[in-house]
Amino acid sequence: MIEPAYATYDSCSIEIPKPFLLVIFGASGDLSRKKLFPALYRLNRDGLLPRNFCILGAARTAMDRSAFHDLMRKAVEETFGKDFDQKAWESFAGRLHYHAGEYDHPASYRDMKKSIEDLERTHDTLGNRIFYLAVPPTVYEAVVSHLGASGLSQEKTGFTHIAIEKPVGSDLASARKLNNVLRSSFLERQVYRMDHYLAKETVQNILMFRFANAIFEPLWNRRYIDHVQITVSESIGIENRAGYYEKAGVIRDMFQNHIFQLLALTAMEPPSVFESERVRDEKVKVFRSIRPFAVDCLDDTLVVAQYGEGMVNGKKAAAYRSEAGVSPDSMTPTYASLKVYIDNWRWNGVPFYLRSGKRLVKKKAEISVHYRAVPHLMFSKAMHEEIEPNALVIRIQPDEGIDITFQAKNPGTKICLSPVLMDFSYKKVFSLSDYERILLDCMQGDQMLFVRDDGVEQTWSLLTPALEKIESPDSARDVTIYAAGTEGPGEAATLLKKDRRSWRPL
Ligand code: BG6
Repeated sequence: MIEPAYATYDSCSIEIPKPFLLVIFGASGDLSRKKLFPALYRLNRDGLLPRNFCILGAARTAMDRSAFHDLMRKAVEETFGKDFDQKAWESFAGRLHYHAGEYDHPASYRDMKKSIEDLERTHDTLGNRIFYLAVPPTVYEAVVSHLGASGLSQEKTGFTHIAIEKPVGSDLASARKLNNVLRSSFLERQVYRMDHYLAKETVQNILMFRFANAIFEPLWNRRYIDHVQITVSESIGIENRAGYYEKAGVIRDMFQNHIFQLLALTAMEPPSVFESERVRDEKVKVFRSIRPFAVDCLDDTLVVAQYGEGMVNGKKAAAYRSEAGVSPDSMTPTYASLKVYIDNWRWNGVPFYLRSGKRLVKKKAEISVHYRAVPHLMFSKAMHEEIEPNALVIRIQPDEGIDITFQAKNPGTKICLSPVLMDFSYKKVFSLSDYERILLDCMQGDQMLFVRDDGVEQTWSLLTPALEKIESPDSARDVTIYAAGTEGPGEAATLLKKDRRSWRPL
C-alpha cells in the first residue's frame, strides 16, 4: 500500500490526493472559469495536487485544445491579476485537455471514454476518476444517466466520484427523482453534493468551537438561549443569472442549502466521532426535528419580498423587475425571513430566525446566539434602564471571527452597567478558498462537507409545502417590495417584533 503524502501548507498538514483524472462538464461556463479552474491552478501552484493528474474539460462548444487553454488562461489571469505566475500556468496547462460533445448523445460518451482511457495511460492516473457537473441543473439527469450507461461510473482499478453543484432538485419530487437517477448509476459513497458554505473556514469552525470548548456547550440549549438568528445578506443583485434565479428565488437559492446547513451545524448534537457519516447523521436528525410549517398561517413564520430600486454602496441599483431577463411582473422573492422551531429536547421552544436577501445594505453572514436575560436583576432599584442579555456572534464573512457581549460596570461610583465586547478575529486571509477545499476533499474521498441524499430530501420536504403555498395561483398577490440598499422589508422586522425581539442590525 502506498502511504499518503502530506504537504505543510500555511502551518497545516494537508494530505496530497492520489493521482486522478478530473472531467469537468460545463468547462467553458461561468462556474468553471470563475471558480473551478482558478482553484485547481492555485492548488497545483502551491504543491497540493499529486504529480500525476489531468483535467478533461467537457462542453458543447466546438474548440480545440489550444483555444481551451486560451480561455482558461484568461480566466486564471483575471482571477489572480498580478499574482498570475507564467511557470505555474505552464505546468497546469500541460494537464488540461478538452472534449467537445452534446450532453445527451451516447456517442459523445463513447468518444469521451476513449479519451479518458488514453489520458489515463499518458498521465498514469491509476484509474481514479472524478466527474464534476458544472452544468445547468436541467442537464444533470442526462449526464448522470449517460455516465452510468457508458460504464464510466464504475470503479475498476481506482475510485470514481461524481460532484454536483446545487441545486439538487427544485422541490421534493425533483430532488427524489435526481437522487434516484444518481443511485441508478452511482453508490451514495461516490456522490459529492456541493454546498460551498460548508467549505468556508468559519463554518467549519462552528463544530470546533462548540465541541472543543467546555465553556459553551453546557449553555447551548433552551435553558440559557432565548433565540438564534442566522443571517446571510448580500449587497449584490442577481448579476447575470436571471434565467436561473427567476425559477429559483431566494428560498431555493439560499435557504434549502446554505442556511439550513448553518442551522444544522448550530443546532446538532455532538457526534461520537468526527467522521463524515456520523456528522451527517446528526445534521439530518436536526432536519427531521424541524417543526413543519403551518401552511395555513404561513405569514406568522415566513416573510418574502423582492428588491425595488435604491442605492447600494453609493450607486444606483435597478429594481429586480428591471434586471435583464427578469419578467416585469415577476413575483420571484429575493428576500425571505423564516421562523423555525426544532422540536427536540435541546431546543424546544427556542425560535431560530433565518434571513437572507439580495441587494441589502451590506454583505454579511453570521449566526448570533441570544442568551436569556438574567433571572433576577438585583440592580433594578438603582438602575433604570433594562440590561441587554448576552449575545454570542459567529461572524462567517466578512471580518471572520467570534464575539461575545457581556455586561461590565462602567468605571465610577454609580452603579452603571454597559455591554462590552470580547472579540476574536481571524484577521487573516484564509489559505484555502471554499472551492479549493471542496475540490481537495472530493479528490481525497472525504464526504464530511458534502450533503447526503437524505439530508437534501429532508430539507426539501420541509420547504416544498411552503413554496407550493407562496407560488400557488390562489396566493397571487403582489409581492412586497423593499428598497435596494436597506435592511429588507418592514414585515421582517414585524415578524420578530410580534415575539418582542428584534433583528441584529446588518
Ligand atoms: C450561491 C448562490 O450558492 O451563493 C448565490 O447561488 C449567492 O445567489 C452565493 O450569491 C453566495 O455565496 P458567497 O460565498 O458569496 O456568500
